[in-house]
Amino acid sequence: MRVTESASRQHPDPDVAAEDRRGSVATTGNGDAEWDERYSSTEQVWSGRPNGALVTEVADVQPGRALDVGCGEGADALWLALQGWKVTALDVSRVALARAELHARAAGAHVQWMHAGLVEARLPAGAFDLVSAQYPALRRTPGSDAERALLAAVAPGGILLVVHHADVDAEQARAHGFDPADYVSPGDVAALLGDDWQVEVDEKRPRDVVGGAGAHHTHDLVLRARRRQ
Ligand SMILES: C[S@@+](CC[C@H](N)C(=O)[O-])C[C@H]1O[C@@H](n2cnc3c(N)ncnc32)[C@H](O)[C@@H]1O
Repeated sequence: MRVTESASRQHPDPDVAAEDRRGSVATTGNGDAEWDERYSSTEQVWSGRPNGALVTEVADVQPGRALDVGCGEGADALWLALQGWKVTALDVSRVALARAELHARAAGAHVQWMHAGLVEARLPAGAFDLVSAQYPALRRTPGSDAERALLAAVAPGGILLVVHHADVDAEQARAHGFDPADYVSPGDVAALLGDDWQVEVDEKRPRDVVGGAGAHHTHDLVLRARRRQ
């Protein structure tokens, strides 16, 4: 797999003002400096708990191969691994991946960490029974590259789960140098689902997060779709 250097970008989230990885981290490119800076600015950014929508949607699913897109500090990937999933988790931030790997090692869990952007990772088509993207900061492009990469990674019969914040105050976000319209939403992904997909969940729902950046967001947009066999 090949990773190219990521394009420069605006601050990818208004919630927080703004080592080389070796070992089990697959890395073939440069880190995203902005995300590294954000993670480096504090010891822990997120809550350390798996996302509620992931637990709700996946707890009863037979484990298989999972991809966690934009895994951050790794709470979701670790939870999936402890449920028996064979997990690949990718992120553009080496700092986040380093933390994630430490947590997993401490828990005795195995995760294949991958330093890569989703599109640049060139993942094998149809390789995952679950593709989870929780609050991903994926850039919208004219060719919908990120959305297509998410869809392409799901195996026949597999699940695509995309979760994002609902009711983001766009004006406030733009005041922080971040335009939500620049980033992929569950709706953007849903718009590309053809007849070979079945939408199982497409809704806004309350979320309950205590602690970590983003805890003030009260509702999620949840898209869960299954690729037909
Ligand atoms: C808002 S955070 C969410 C982290 C994690 N999913 C969670 O729920 O705690 C977005 C994450 O996406 C990562 N990211 C940004 N651009 C990415 C890209 N093109 N491909 C993969 N990950 C990316 C960032 O480094 C960051 O860790």
